[in-house]
Amino acid sequence: MARKLYIRTFGCQMNEYDSARIADVLAAEDGLALTDRPDDADVIVFNTCSVREKAQERVFHDLGRVRALKAQKGDLIIGVGGCVASQEGAGIVKRAPYVDIVFGPQTLHRIPQMIRARRATGKPQVDVSFPEIEKFDRLPPPTVDGAAAYVSIMEGCSKYCTFCVVPYTRGEEVSRPLDDVLTEIADLADQGVREVTLLGQNVNAYRGSMGGGEVADLATLLEHVAEMPSIERIRFTTSHPKEMTPRLIDAFERVDKLVSHLHLPVQSGADRVLAAMKRGYTALEYRSIVRRLRRARPGLSLTSDFIVGFPGETEADFAGTLKLIEDIRFDGAFSFIYSPRPGTPATALPNPVPRAIAQDRLARLQSLVDAQYQSHSEAMVGSRQRVLVTGPATRDEGDLQARTDNNRVVNFAGDAVLTNTYVDVAIVAAQAHSLRGELVTL
Ligand code: SAM
Ligand code: F3S
Repeated sequence: MARKLYIRTFGCQMNEYDSARIADVLAAEDGLALTDRPDDADVIVFNTCSVREKAQERVFHDLGRVRALKAQKGDLIIGVGGCVASQEGAGIVKRAPYVDIVFGPQTLHRIPQMIRARRATGKPQVDVSFPEIEKFDRLPPPTVDGAAAYVSIMEGCSKYCTFCVVPYTRGEEVSRPLDDVLTEIADLADQGVREVTLLGQNVNAYRGSMGGGEVADLATLLEHVAEMPSIERIRFTTSHPKEMTPRLIDAFERVDKLVSHLHLPVQSGADRVLAAMKRGYTALEYRSIVRRLRRARPGLSLTSDFIVGFPGETEADFAGTLKLIEDIRFDGAFSFIYSPRPGTPATALPNPVPRAIAQDRLARLQSLVDAQYQSHSEAMVGSRQRVLVTGPATRDEGDLQARTDNNRVVNFAGDAVLTNTYVDVAIVAAQAHSLRGELVTL
C-alpha cells in the first residue's frame, strides 16, 4: 500500500502553493500519496503562517494533538514548515522534541533528504536557510489539477513594511528567470491549463533575467504569457502600489488576456498611518494610480487589504480610510486588526489602539466593504460573463460552478462535460456569496 502524506496549511496563497509543491516533491521522490486523515499518514507536515495572531501557539497546540500518533506509529515523521518554522528554527524542536524536521519556505525541496537524514542519524533536522532560487531547479514540474493553475514567479519581499514579518520569514525578493517561468506555463498549457495566476508576495517587483544581462519586468512577462495561444486568462497577485509602473498600468490597456481585476493592498487611507507603516505612498498617490488603472481598463474591479488599529491610528485617520473605500468602491477586501509581530519595527511604536476600538473599526470597515461587494454583484445581474467552469457546485451537485473575471463564484445548470472550459453565462441573481447564472447557448 502506498505510504501517505498529510499536510495542514495555514495562511496565504503562497503557503497553499508551497503545500502543493511539498506534495509534488514527496510524491516524486518517496512515492507518498496525499491523505486527509492524519492518523493514516506516514508523514505529517504543518505548513505554518506567522503573519497574524498567536500563530506560534496554534502550531504547538496542533502539534500536541499529533504527538499521540507518534507513540502508535514509531516511524511517523512530523515536519514543520512555513513562516513560523522560519522564525523559530531549532526552537521548535526544543519545545516539541518529537518534531523530526523543520524547514523554511525556501528549503521545502530538501524535505526528502531531511527525512532520510532524520532516519539515518536519529536526530531532528533543521534547515531554514534562504538558498536563493535553487528550490525551483530541484522541484518536480507541478502536477495539474483542472484548467486554472498558480505559477510562482518570485519569492520573498524587500519592502519591509513596519508591521510585517514576511521579509524576515521568506527572505528578500528573488525572481525566477523569464525562460523558467515561460517553460513552466507552456508545460501547464500542454496539460490543459487555460488560466494562470502569477504568484508572489510582491509580483510587480518581478525582475527576471533574460540572458545577456537583460532583465524582464512584470509587464514584459505578461506580454510573453499572453502570446501563448492556449492561455486564455492571466491574473497576478499580490501587487504593491509603489510598483504599479506606467508600463504595468499600460498592460491593462494592451493585454486583453489580463483579467479586469486587481488586488492592490492599500492598508490605510491616512497618510500619517501609511508613513508609519512605511508603505511608500500617500492616499492621494494611491487614488491617482487607481484613476490611471481605470482609464487603461474601464470597469476594472479592485480588491484590497486593510489593517485597522495600527499604533497611533486616530478616529480621524480611520475616517480617512472609510472615505477612501467610499470613493474607490472596492469590490471586496481582506481586513485585519493590527497584530504586533515579534522582531518588526512597529512593535516599538507608541499609542496602541485599545482592542475594543479596533474591533469596532474592523466591523464598520467590513460592513462598508460588504455593502460595496453586494452592490457590485447586483450590478452584474443582467450582464453576460465569460467564466471558467471549475466543477460541480458545492451545494447542489446537479449544478456547475464557475469563476468570473472578478473572482466571483457563479452557479448554473449545465452538463459536467463543460468542466475546465470557458463558457458564457447570463447573470440572473446576486446572492450573498455567489451569483446565479444561466448558460448562454448561441
Ligand atoms: N505582499 C502583500 C502586500 O502587498 O502588502 C501582503 C502580504 S501579507 C502576507 C497579507 C496582508 O496581511 C497584508 O496586506 C496586511 O493587510 C496583513 N498583515 C500583514 N502583517 C500584519 C500584521 N502584523 N497585523 C495585521 N495584518 C497584517
Ligand atoms: Fe509584507 Fe509589506 Fe512585503 S505587507 S509582504 S513587507 S509589501
